[in-house]
Amino acid sequence: MENNQATIVHHPVVARDLTILRNKETNTADFRLAMGRIATILAYYALKDLPLKKVEISTPVTAAQGYEINTEIIIVPILRAGLSLVNALLNFIPDARVGHLGMYRDETTHEPVDYYSNIPSGLENAMVLLVDPMLATGGSADDAIAFLKKKGANNIRFICLISAPVGLQRISTKYPDVSVITAAVDEKLNNDAFIVPGLGDAGDRYFGTT
Ligand code: PRP
Repeated sequence: MENNQATIVHHPVVARDLTILRNKETNTADFRLAMGRIATILAYYALKDLPLKKVEISTPVTAAQGYEINTEIIIVPILRAGLSLVNALLNFIPDARVGHLGMYRDETTHEPVDYYSNIPSGLENAMVLLVDPMLATGGSADDAIAFLKKKGANNIRFICLISAPVGLQRISTKYPDVSVITAAVDEKLNNDAFIVPGLGDAGDRYFGTT
């Protein structure tokens, strides 16, 4: 399903794996495997309209026309949990460069706190794939997008697994040029700004730090 800006990915494997991720009984190994499978499907949708250029090649039989991807791609995970989505994208685009943005959400204020950044040069000429499994208040994604735009990014896609309506609305309103690819729009946030029903803390569950 698509509106102007958000692509909500519906797929039987996504539905099955979201259930595995949401289930609090799921162990770390199964959580990682399910995240990896969903990330592959999200990556497929995020990359489905990549620009191509024609190239001439020779098969063992004859000359032929083929295609190469005609844009540089820079993947930017929001640490930590965003790391869980990087490998799936690298499987499709193995020469993508990867920048890192370290942010955690203050447990009291729910505001993002920046602690690290290492972003490759050339953002202005690249398709930038910002990744984080959770879009809750939208504060982290908002800060990350503002940071990347300030550094010159003008073609940003945000890939997240689960979104809350308020976070999705915040990003759509503030950054109408940023498309969002997500697997689910959940019901709401609770008083601790956790997504409901959600899956808990994605970083803790993926890295086994609970
Ligand atoms: C989580 C999540 C997002 C952010 C979403 O990170 O991975 O980065 O919160 O919340 P927001 O939309 O309200 O900003 P967390 O603070 O748990 O850090 P972690 O990835 O290091 O676990």
